[in-house]
Amino acid sequence: MQINCIFARFFDVMKSIVHSEAELHRAAQELLSAFPAARVFCFYGEMGAGKTTFIKVLCQTLGVEDVTSSPTFAIVNEYLTETGESIYHFDFYRIESLAEAYEIGVEDYLYSGSYCFIEWTEKIEPLVQPEFVKVSISVQENGDRWIIAE
Ligand SMILES: Nc1ncnc2c1ncn2[C@@H]1O[C@H](COP(=O)(O)OP(=O)(O)O)[C@@H](O)[C@H]1O
Ligand SMILES: [Mg+2]
Repeated sequence: MQINCIFARFFDVMKSIVHSEAELHRAAQELLSAFPAARVFCFYGEMGAGKTTFIKVLCQTLGVEDVTSSPTFAIVNEYLTETGESIYHFDFYRIESLAEAYEIGVEDYLYSGSYCFIEWTEKIEPLVQPEFVKVSISVQENGDRWIIAE
């Protein structure tokens, strides 16, 4: 029998093994229920690891009907849930300095109480707070993704 998910609740670590994109829905449920009070999720993982794909599934899980909007966005993209709540998706890949993040008002978003999902968190590392959830996605040799959140 294959073990898909290891809920290591001690130390507040969640590990989810994902064999295909279809399984991301289960992983999204696991992540959100492991950290019910968290609103800011910082993603780590190489290009192609699946950060954008997983964030879109998380948005769907939270009630966003159309996650296809704005396939290319500058730094921040806003999704609306069916109940009218905002979710912010950041991609800091192209910023060259922390000042650019401040210019878009990153701190206002991070402390807005809305869900924030951040790609290329490395670029804004000084702004990362202990209460933010860090989500690492790594691709295994067989194509599985390990999603580790703490
Ligand atoms: N869990 C997964 N299993 C298999 N393929 C995946 C998975 N997540 C993403 N992919 C595929 O990997 C590619 C890169 O995904 P993407 O989300 O754009 O990565 P990133 O944002 O980390 O650069 C896409 O073609 C996507 O369909
Ligand atoms: Mg991406």
